[in-house]
Amino acid sequence: MTKSLFHDWRKMSPRARPRGWQLGFAAFSVVAILVLFPGENTLLPTIRTMGVIGYAVAAALSLGCAVGLPKPGARRLAIGFHLAFVPLQFLFAFPNPVPNFGIALSVAIVVGLQPRFPRLSLRVRKIWLILHIGFSVGWLGLSLGMLTLALVGLLADTHAVRHGAYEIFHVFDLVIVIPSVVLTIVTGLVLSLGTPWGLVKHRWVLTKFLISLSIPAAAAVESRWVSELVARTEDPAATAGSLGVALVVTVGCFAISLWTATILSVSKPWGRTRWGRDDSDPSLPVIVTHRRRVAEDTVELTLASVGAHRLPPWTPGAHVDLIMPSGLIRQYSLCGDPADTHEYRLAVLREDSGRGGSVEAHALTRGAEVRIRRPRNNFPIAEAPAYLFVAGGIGITPFLPMLPRLTVAGVPWRLVYRGRSLARMAYAGPLAATYPDQVSLYPADTCPRPDLTALMRTLPDRSAVYCCGPTRLIEAVTEAMPIGCPQGTLHVERFASTARAGENHAFEAELRRSGRTVSVPADGTLLAAIHEVDPAVPASCVDGVCGSCLTPVLAGVPDHRDDVLQPHERDRTDVIYPCVSRARGGKIVLDV
Ligand code: FES
Repeated sequence: MTKSLFHDWRKMSPRARPRGWQLGFAAFSVVAILVLFPGENTLLPTIRTMGVIGYAVAAALSLGCAVGLPKPGARRLAIGFHLAFVPLQFLFAFPNPVPNFGIALSVAIVVGLQPRFPRLSLRVRKIWLILHIGFSVGWLGLSLGMLTLALVGLLADTHAVRHGAYEIFHVFDLVIVIPSVVLTIVTGLVLSLGTPWGLVKHRWVLTKFLISLSIPAAAAVESRWVSELVARTEDPAATAGSLGVALVVTVGCFAISLWTATILSVSKPWGRTRWGRDDSDPSLPVIVTHRRRVAEDTVELTLASVGAHRLPPWTPGAHVDLIMPSGLIRQYSLCGDPADTHEYRLAVLREDSGRGGSVEAHALTRGAEVRIRRPRNNFPIAEAPAYLFVAGGIGITPFLPMLPRLTVAGVPWRLVYRGRSLARMAYAGPLAATYPDQVSLYPADTCPRPDLTALMRTLPDRSAVYCCGPTRLIEAVTEAMPIGCPQGTLHVERFASTARAGENHAFEAELRRSGRTVSVPADGTLLAAIHEVDPAVPASCVDGVCGSCLTPVLAGVPDHRDDVLQPHERDRTDVIYPCVSRARGGKIVLDV
């Protein structure tokens, strides 16, 4: 039964799981009321009463949120409620440790709902940081003071000192410890959630968070011991005994944990957790395991991950940023088998008059270590009844994984492959041999240009025409489209930016999540303005080609100047590539 319940839970979608947790929390609240309510009201009666009322409200709200999920309003309510309820449950845990389970449940619910908090602006972040450091330092001093009092209570020879130490300790517990713990945790939470640090992305933040959660749990036990020691040492003949030793050990662990958290804040060790390895993850190391010449001036590199890890998945049309040992970054289409997650293959044409990236890539030998970023796909296979691929030179590479995929799916396709000469056309021989009826080779030194318009006329309606190659070829295909295949869709991928010109004017960009508005001057880029507020927004080519700086638009009209959006997507108002694109009006609102 338990096994099948667990199995069912695992089968639930991630959005459904928090609903189960919410129902679990409602049930837990009822248990907490039953546990807290009938207890003897001799210890902290006000907090006990608050706990009973708090859990009654929590049961109703959790039930409401569980029934309402996944509506955005209910989701936000659940996140806000549980975040606020964590410190309150910490208070309720003083008379009885049961609410500590509620704290763990609340945290699990918030994490499961994957909240996206607005980014703190730099000034607000500084204020919260100062507050957090201030409260943390106070808590550190407090823990050392409490350790001293616990030692004095244990070791003092005179009754007055022994009893006095525990009485002061008790007052500390009630008056200073509770607010300082709550304020430190709350300021830490705001900082983590309102900055790129996150709560579970970095191991040092996660460890600090777990320490923060463990301390209130231990404090609930410790406060009961102190109350007992105060009562016990009223008798001048009584000593602290083993309870006094346990208190010293617990408070000592407290102090060590807090100092550990402080050291973690300063040193930030251990890198990211698996939840933190997202698209912002800058790069991963790979090793060149194979290098072979596939045409004149073209080499194919096979890259495998360092260690036994699998490489991130990708789909046909995707490319990666290859980060050379010198730091140069270039984009190359993946041309291997997407099902093989142990290695990537890419082909590089040497361009001696280029900017140096291809020359450096050609110099990579077997065993060389480079870095790559996770694959991005700006050129995926769109749904269509038939396909025409037009490749120019090294522009053949994105099509290599597409052709087997379409062949397996039984979708008709044709490939027109143009190059300077057969010797310079990578993979031409194997392609013509594997697909003799579908591949047409047009080496420029022996064949005239293909008649693209005539070719397109043979395509059924709504066909997809894909072109990757030099600008001249893309222009020829673009001109042929309306005549040859008016109902079709054109998809292009360029080697280099077309540097779309346009009149530049200054405008404002509201960065909604950061709560900041920045001015973009006529001679500056939107990306540069964004980076002043949030340097974590990714960017690679800064030329409008790679697609890494994709940013959601919430309001306003983008003036698209990139080469990532396809011809039929250029009136989109929901995204922008801010490295080159701008706003049409005076203002644009971005989800940054
Ligand atoms: S950084 Fe490459 S498209 Fe913007």
